[in-house]
Amino acid sequence: MSDKIRTLISESDVNRRIAEIAEQINQDYAGEEVRLICILKGSVFFTCELAKRINLPVTIDFMQVSSYGNGTTSSGRVRIAKDLDESVEGMNIIVIEDIIDSGRTLSYLMDILKARNPKSIKLCTLLDKPDRRVVDIDVDYTGFEIPDEFVVGYGLDYAQKYRNLPYVGVVEL
Ligand code: IMP
Ligand code: MG
Repeated sequence: MSDKIRTLISESDVNRRIAEIAEQINQDYAGEEVRLICILKGSVFFTCELAKRINLPVTIDFMQVSSYGNGTTSSGRVRIAKDLDESVEGMNIIVIEDIIDSGRTLSYLMDILKARNPKSIKLCTLLDKPDRRVVDIDVDYTGFEIPDEFVVGYGLDYAQKYRNLPYVGVVEL
């Protein structure tokens, strides 16, 4: 059985917005190097598309966290399933997230990364659901603010499916 998916943000709109964010990053970090911290698995697609459009020296590292929740909500208890390979001390790091929902996962993660003494740290998310925020969190670059609906595609999954959709959509249950 395949689910019906309604397009929320088209492929061309997502790509256009990613190009704008990359251009902003190019300006903000002119003359600097940046390390993108891709939060697995959902941010993989966004990180690649963003990195391709950044014209500064870029390195990429990966981290995976799991929040003990069910399929669609996070509990606030977070576990590092895979840590970064390299130190971020003295680096300009940009944490790349697919979506910020309650903000619990990111708030925890940003604290961990700040404690590792990067030169600077910013947060970039493709999607933001501000209505769902439980923990206050500063976001530096946001692709799109979206309503409180469960979305898939462009890296986002529903029970691990649909990450490969080239657009952002809502599963019609
Ligand atoms: P938070 O800790 O509540 O902000 O949860 C963020 C994480 O929950 C994201 O990294 C996603 O893995 C997941 N998530 C939240 N909303 C959605 C959604 O609409 N679709 C898919 N995953 C989501
Ligand atoms: Mg997820």
